[in-house]
Amino acid sequence: MDKFVIEGGKPLKGTIPISGSKNAALPLMAASLLGNSASTLHNIPRLKDIYTFNNVIRVVGAQVDFHEDENKLVIDPTHVNHLEAPYDLVRKMRASFYMLGALVGKHGYAKVSLPGGCAWGPRPVDLHLKGMEAMGIDISLEKGYVIAKANDKIEGGSFRLEPSSVGATVNLLLASVLKAKKFTIKNAAKEPDVVQLCNHLVKMGANIDGIGTDTLTIKAVNELKGIEVSNDPDRIELGTFMIAAAMFPGSELTLTGCNPEHLGSFTKQLKKTGTTVDIDGTTIKVKAPDTLKPVSIKTEIYPGFPTDLQAQWATMMTQAEGKSKVTDTVYFDRFSYVPELTRLGADMEVEKNTVHISGKTPLIGASVMSTDLRASVSLVLAALVAENHSDVLRIYHLDRGYEDLENKLSAVGANIKRVDED
Ligand code: EPZ
Repeated sequence: MDKFVIEGGKPLKGTIPISGSKNAALPLMAASLLGNSASTLHNIPRLKDIYTFNNVIRVVGAQVDFHEDENKLVIDPTHVNHLEAPYDLVRKMRASFYMLGALVGKHGYAKVSLPGGCAWGPRPVDLHLKGMEAMGIDISLEKGYVIAKANDKIEGGSFRLEPSSVGATVNLLLASVLKAKKFTIKNAAKEPDVVQLCNHLVKMGANIDGIGTDTLTIKAVNELKGIEVSNDPDRIELGTFMIAAAMFPGSELTLTGCNPEHLGSFTKQLKKTGTTVDIDGTTIKVKAPDTLKPVSIKTEIYPGFPTDLQAQWATMMTQAEGKSKVTDTVYFDRFSYVPELTRLGADMEVEKNTVHISGKTPLIGASVMSTDLRASVSLVLAALVAENHSDVLRIYHLDRGYEDLENKLSAVGANIKRVDED
């Protein structure tokens, strides 16, 4: 297993290009299976989760060509003939569960493994299944698999997501655009990933009202055509590097190829820390203040503060002068990074779904263990600030969601190397 060896304690200066979004790409890939011809997707990042999903899509019989050097993915669904997604692939990546909506939505049948739990606790899919049943899809469970059946056209109806769920919104959109005479999703997720999917489906020929709001109404069409689109830039990677720039006095990063609107309330909060943020079209310049002010945040669904930046924010707050707290209202136990950060010298304590932080604490390098994608990148952020040497172990978690991370950081002055641990 690979690890990162990092010599921290110096500012970052330079330019980092933002890659395509993982969480926006996965729904587009699933939606490509609804078409009656091939789709070409641009700005697809070279990430483990993308490769995993490519394999899931190949298993059902689609042709998948990933032109990695161009970040271009071509998916031809015309020969799909096996309407199943196996446990050994779905357990690797939860978003493989989107195959349920795509296959039953296009072919009227799907047998998809229930996804495994996540490092920070079980992640249910009850809203996906109840929503499909409300649409008129027959759902049954068999030995850890979900079997979904729907005859040609189903009545549809409406379903309220409680809580609002990105994945359930995606799956219900995929299941309904060709199948449900009329289906309304209430309290639908409004994340940019969902808005991009809706716009993509409409370009394929779907009939969706309410795009960008929390009420989506879908009316079935008879067919969808394959299209060529460019995927959104990754808002979570963007937020992560903005935090990297803010954490160490003297750091100054220019981030290119961004969509600043996709950050929701994050940018306003970052400015409150005293960090300079200059937005110029798709370029964002971030400059660290001499002293970081403590700013408490609470994660919420979009356009609130994203839960996927919660760990990174808490890590930055260890370098702020004073006390702050970070509350996650989306995932109540997404704090696996805290014990690792305290080993680097952070003063943090978790109480229910809030971590209380007292800064500023110097961080001293050590060996730390990654546990999930966003916790792992927070350990890298901490190691870049820590004096002397740190090892960040099990970075396969990072390879799921950050393209070329060590090269991007090295290019702005970080001393970071990937080492094969075995
Ligand atoms: C998506 O996960 C993202 N993953 C996550 O990013 C992100 O943290 C999450 O949305 C929230 O923004 C992808 O897009 C691939 P949810 P998802 O359904 O869809 C509860 C990363 O780091 N819930 O919006 O699985 C659930 O427990 C990943 O890139 C139910 O109760 O998240 C959670 O509390 C991690 N029943 C809340 O809803 C359900 O059926 C939001 O989850 C579904 C969800």
